[in-house]
Amino acid sequence: MTTPAGVPTISAKRVRLSHFIYDHIISKVYDLQLLMIPFKRAAVNELELKRGDHVIAFCCGTGQEFPFIQSRIGPTGEILGVDWSDGMLEQARRRIVNNGWTNVKLVKGDVTTLPDSVVEAAPYDAGICTLGLSIISRPEKAFQALKNVVRGGGRIVIGDVCSFSGLKSILNPLNTLTVLTFGNTRRSLAQSRVFAETSPLSLLDAKLKWHLGGSRYIVSGTCPMPSG
Ligand SMILES: C[S@@+](CC[C@H](N)C(=O)[O-])C[C@H]1O[C@@H](n2cnc3c(N)ncnc32)[C@H](O)[C@@H]1O
Repeated sequence: MTTPAGVPTISAKRVRLSHFIYDHIISKVYDLQLLMIPFKRAAVNELELKRGDHVIAFCCGTGQEFPFIQSRIGPTGEILGVDWSDGMLEQARRRIVNNGWTNVKLVKGDVTTLPDSVVEAAPYDAGICTLGLSIISRPEKAFQALKNVVRGGGRIVIGDVCSFSGLKSILNPLNTLTVLTFGNTRRSLAQSRVFAETSPLSLLDAKLKWHLGGSRYIVSGTCPMPSG
């Protein structure tokens, strides 16, 4: 799969730096920022989860979306969180222990090249990624990986930040500033905008909802049946 011509991409150097910063700095303070919690709740709502569902959460970080998923799937459901940062996963582990959850598993791995254990445990009933794809240099690859492990007819939700378009573009420098600490750049937000506008095309019954005036989006839809 190739990145379409003209789409801004994040450099490998930038991705490595972001990985390091998540591991050693952001993980220590991530759960202090609560501003985006309602956005995560809104994203989970779009999953339309049922009791007993098995959910995969890409780029789960410290698991801020887990409580909303848990309240829908109940103790018979399962969550598998995938993230490549040890620091973020350590905080997620703490959250799991503090809540006494026994139905949440974590796997360390890159969501663009999923570990075998994650693929072997597929299919999942639903898949979500909040605030992850915008800092990945190949978001379309991670999106494809998510579609590969969610069953046909299962729900997929991506919620993320992106750049403004049209007249509001004038606000982009400020918008970039607000998410700089999370590894986003002008380029990554522009890439994310393209993703928001094009990714629904590959989902069934897709919906694209804009938040915060068009600087955040939630794409939701149904995973097509596997071909062949
Ligand atoms: C802003 S946090 C989002 C965490 C969580 N989903 C939330 O909404 O609070 C982004 C997360 O993406 C993870 N991440 C970035 N690129 C990744 C990759 N290629 N594979 C797995 N995790 C990745 C980072 O380690 C970080 O934990």
